[in-house]
Amino acid sequence: MNIIRTIKGTHDILPADSKNWQNLENIVNEVCGRFGYEEIRTPIFEETRLFSRSVGENTDIVSKEMYSWEDRDGMSLTLRPELTASVVRSFIQHNLGTQAPIQRLYYMGPLFRRERPQKGRQRQFHQFGVEAFGSKYPEQDAEIIAIAWQILEECGLSNKSTLHLNSIGSTECRLDFRDALRDCIRPNLNQFSETSQKRFETNPLRILDSKADFEQKLLENAPKISDFFTENDKIDFDKLQSYLTAMGIPFSLDEKLVRGLDYYSRTVFEFRSTALGAQDALLGGGRYDGLVKTLGGKPTPGIGFAAGMERFLLGMNEQKKDSKTDIYFVCLDESVLSTCLSLSNQIRRAGYSVMTDPSRRSMKAQMREANKMNAKYAIILGQKELEDKTVVFKDLAKGDQESILQSGLIKKIEGLTK
Ligand code: HAM
Repeated sequence: MNIIRTIKGTHDILPADSKNWQNLENIVNEVCGRFGYEEIRTPIFEETRLFSRSVGENTDIVSKEMYSWEDRDGMSLTLRPELTASVVRSFIQHNLGTQAPIQRLYYMGPLFRRERPQKGRQRQFHQFGVEAFGSKYPEQDAEIIAIAWQILEECGLSNKSTLHLNSIGSTECRLDFRDALRDCIRPNLNQFSETSQKRFETNPLRILDSKADFEQKLLENAPKISDFFTENDKIDFDKLQSYLTAMGIPFSLDEKLVRGLDYYSRTVFEFRSTALGAQDALLGGGRYDGLVKTLGGKPTPGIGFAAGMERFLLGMNEQKKDSKTDIYFVCLDESVLSTCLSLSNQIRRAGYSVMTDPSRRSMKAQMREANKMNAKYAIILGQKELEDKTVVFKDLAKGDQESILQSGLIKKIEGLTK
């Protein structure tokens, strides 16, 4: 029979890697906590219309990448392709806006997009992200970017990545810009790719971030969004840049950055890394001042980002931690097993990790295993020790060993690890 394997674009995270994952998760929890952000967890699947209304009908995500199905009651459901929409749904559903003037939330979890898999791009992948609701001011943008920067620093990635920053202006200014952009592209429209020709109708701004050189050439004389900024758009964007400079966060202005989700307005940003290859976007985000209203809530400004965890881990140096096993409990005889199990459990309750052998192997095999696991100490228990109520306690690094009373075991370990 053929063995059953993971679906294309999905991966197991095996024990050898899970330490790196836990390390990254710890950094995210720690840094978000320092900024006063609290964790939110939302369901893996939602109503399809949540994503089509927020991310946008014509985006790549909604038009071709979602895993959607009709449930038995006829409702269309979708495995979440991103988390901002879910967090906004939850914010509205639970009236979080009434609980505090500013809501600061963060999350981690799996997402699903039916993209063509390649290095750094999966069909099931993981993000961590943050969302802040309630402030329209650039100091909030600066806080969000500072979180991203601090996480990148702690992961050793800040010097391998560049912050691309842009403002796509508020809705009013974007409408005028869209018309001007269409006017500029129209005469040469048939020279653009099929995708761009479609985007010309649905979302011409996306043509700007085309990766094709010939299209960038055709766009040389395209109007600039900054020429269409309202007075406030301009003031806020300038302020944000001065706050980033004050915090020592380097950035490069990128007029071509528009992002592929429809809910953005004003500030948008991406951290890209040279350590990643073609899929170089480590983290992306921006403002979505109209989204809470679009999804039926009281108008509330919002801003956030999300980062691909697989991409972070690809960019981070392998940071495997030392063995977690403090003690290997060597059991010499079946008759001492219940004492071995009971003592091991007492030591674990005191906060130390203990491994025992569940396969009744020889002392030599158990000692070999203890060394392989990098255990610091071995405790050896045989018939004689059982009668004397002692154990043999061995320091595996030094090779010293001594006989100690079972009743003094935890004190002994505590004394050594202080
Ligand atoms: P996004 O740019 O679609 O934004 O995704 C954010 C990050 O998720 C990307 O920069 C990338 O690192 C990672 N990512 C996306 N797709 C894949 C994939 N197929 N495989 C591996 N990693 C991937 C959002 O999702 C927005 N919700 C971000 C946001 C939050 N904006 C405001 N708040």
